[in-house]
Amino acid sequence: MKMDTIATIHDLRSRIAGWRGGGARIGLVPTMGALHEGHLSLVREARKQCGRVVVSIFVNPAQFAPHEDFDRYPRDQPADIARLAGACDLVFAPSVREMYPDGFATKIEAGGPSAGLETDFRPHFFSGVATIVAKLLIAAMPDWAIFGEKDYQQLLVIRRLVADLALPVEIAGGAIVREADGLAMSSRNAYLSPEQRRIAGRLNLVLKDAAMRIRHGDTAATAEAYATAALLEAGFDTVDYVAVRDAETLAPAVDSTRPMRILAAAKTGATRLIDNMEI
Ligand code: PAJ
Repeated sequence: MKMDTIATIHDLRSRIAGWRGGGARIGLVPTMGALHEGHLSLVREARKQCGRVVVSIFVNPAQFAPHEDFDRYPRDQPADIARLAGACDLVFAPSVREMYPDGFATKIEAGGPSAGLETDFRPHFFSGVATIVAKLLIAAMPDWAIFGEKDYQQLLVIRRLVADLALPVEIAGGAIVREADGLAMSSRNAYLSPEQRRIAGRLNLVLKDAAMRIRHGDTAATAEAYATAALLEAGFDTVDYVAVRDAETLAPAVDSTRPMRILAAAKTGATRLIDNMEI
């Protein structure tokens, strides 16, 4: 199958208009590249759901704070394109100037599920994500788009964004793809030294343990305190949060008859890892 890479919104629109004329259902998989199995699982799901699949690759400066890793975020477009070969129909890989032309001055402020958790540590993150995702959705106007549960809060923020702006797109969630020891796959795992990689593998186990404790009757506060201590004991340098939340709203979980989710962020060295799971 022929898979082109294009870099402008104009080309994206004209390519998609052609497909739409042929009646195809169009799927979009937004990424920042450095593609791994987690991303590819979303692309495979898109292929199942849609006749035409576009993958976007864009390291979005607006979602990185000045002290964060925008400059050293892994970028390898030829490798990404090789990984996607045959899996999608089109790669949209715009420049920063294409997405943020001179004088760009608009930004979307995310509310609702963006409150707390990531926002307590990365206050501008969801505004950057919401702005670029809205722009990608408006540029491509897909029927369907998918986001991973790996970034669970992001998935809920995007669902809220799409509902609030009445964008005519269905948002799907993709299950977390993990390494053999359970570490959630992430482009940032490439930063880990062998020792940090060993510590990183403990995050999912501690969350699993805490989730089990809640199912066996522990309170959210007890389980959160247990998991925080266990992560520090496992060698993490800082624990930004461990939180038991309502799975649909991310409000503190007060009603244990509703679906709950445990979410965490912790740092080993300079690398910040996030993970979450169903309770
Ligand atoms: P990125 O981190 O590249 O992730 C792209 C998509 O892949 C996101 O929806 C993310 O949740 C999903 N993903 C990452 N690791 C995964 C894993 N181990 N299992 C399942 N899905 C996984 O998230 C972003 O980019 C950006 O914020 C973006 C939405 C593209 C906006 O810039």
